[in-house]
Amino acid sequence: MTDIHYAIAAARPGGPDVLQQTELSLPPPAAGEVQIRHRAIGVNFIDCYFRSGLYPWPDPQRLVPGAEAAGEIIAVGPGVTALREGDRVAYTLPNNAYASARNIAAAHVVILPDGLSFETAASVMLKGLTTRYLLKDSYRLQAGEQVLFHAAAGGVGLLAGQWMRVIGVEPVGTAGGPAKCDLALSNGFATMIDYREQDFLEAARALVPEGFHAVYDSVGKDTLLKSLKCLRLHGSLVNFGQSSGAVSDFRIADLAAGSFHLTRPVLFHFTSNRRWLEKASEELFGLILDGRIRVQTQTAPLTSAAQVHADLEGRKTTGSTVLIP
Ligand SMILES: NC(=O)c1ccc[n+]([C@@H]2O[C@H](COP(=O)([O-])OP(=O)(O)OC[C@H]3O[C@@H](n4cnc5c(N)ncnc54)[C@H](OP(=O)(O)O)[C@@H]3O)[C@@H](O)[C@H]2O)c1
Repeated sequence: MTDIHYAIAAARPGGPDVLQQTELSLPPPAAGEVQIRHRAIGVNFIDCYFRSGLYPWPDPQRLVPGAEAAGEIIAVGPGVTALREGDRVAYTLPNNAYASARNIAAAHVVILPDGLSFETAASVMLKGLTTRYLLKDSYRLQAGEQVLFHAAAGGVGLLAGQWMRVIGVEPVGTAGGPAKCDLALSNGFATMIDYREQDFLEAARALVPEGFHAVYDSVGKDTLLKSLKCLRLHGSLVNFGQSSGAVSDFRIADLAAGSFHLTRPVLFHFTSNRRWLEKASEELFGLILDGRIRVQTQTAPLTSAAQVHADLEGRKTTGSTVLIP
C-alpha cells in the first residue's frame, strides 16, 4: 500500500518563495529502513544553503529540504530489528525532512527517552549534536579556557553557551542587537559583544588582550579574517558555517601569523559513526533532561516554511524553530 503524505519542496533553486506544498506518495520502507510520521521538524541554515543552490541538490529536479526531525515509527522495513512500530524517535540527515512522513535508513535513527518532547528533540538533533562535536571533538575545550563564539543567540549559539558553562568555560559571544545579546547572556554567555554596534575585533582584544584559545565562527565571509586575529599563539579557529556568505579571501599563509589551527568540520561526518551518534545523543538528551541545558524553541506550521526561511536568513530568529506538520 502507498500512503499519501505532503511535503514542502522546491522545483528550482532560489529565494524562500520557491518552497511550495506538494503531495508526496510514500512507498513502504525498503530493507533496513523505517517509516516515520513526523511530529516536529527542525529548521536549519543548511536548509537555506540547499534551497538557494549554494549546496548542490542530490536530485536536480526537486528538493525537499530539512535535516532534522522527530516523530513516531509507523512502519518497519525488512531486516530492521532494533526499532518497532510506535517507537518515538529522532534523526539528523541532510534533506527530505520537510514532509509529514518519510522513509529513512534505521542506522540514522535514535530512540527518544521518556520526557523528551518531539519539539525539543527536533530542535536539538542537528544543532545539539553540532554543539557536542564543536566543543568536544573539533576542538576539545578545557575548563577555564578563553572562547569567542559568533552568532551566540542563534540555534547552535544558545545551546553552545549553556554547554560551555557545563564544561567550565565562561564564553564571550557576539550577536546583532541588544535583545539578542541579553538572550545569549541568559543562556550561558558571560560577556557579549554587539557586533552591529562595535568592531568585534577591537572589543574582543580589549576583553582578552592575550587572545582566545578558540574562536567558533559560523558567520563566515563577514567575520573569518578578523576571527583569526582574535586568537592567541597556537589558537584554534573552528569555521563551521557561512551565514553571511562563503569565505573567499582566506590564504593558508594567514595561519602563519600565530601558528594557528583551522578546521572546517561537518556534523554528518560525525553522525555517520553510529557509536558516536548514540553516545553523543545520550549525552545531549541527558543534559536536557536534568535541566543543565534549556532549549528555546518556536513552532510554526510546516506550510509556513518559506516565511521561516525568510526570517532565519533575515537574522530575525533566535534559538531553534521547528515546523509542525
Ligand atoms: N558545519 C556543521 O556541521 C554545522 C551544523 C549546524 C549548523 N552549522 C552552521 O551554524 C550556523 C548557525 O546555524 P543555525 O541554524 O543555528 O542558525 P542561527 O545561528 O540561528 O542563524 C544564523 C545567525 O547568523 C548570524 N548572521 C551573521 N551575519 C549574517 C548574515 N549576513 N545573514 C544571516 N545571518 C547572519 C545572525 O545572528 P546575528 O544577528 O546575531 O548576527 C543569524 O541569526 C550556520 O552558519 C550553519 O550553517 C554548521
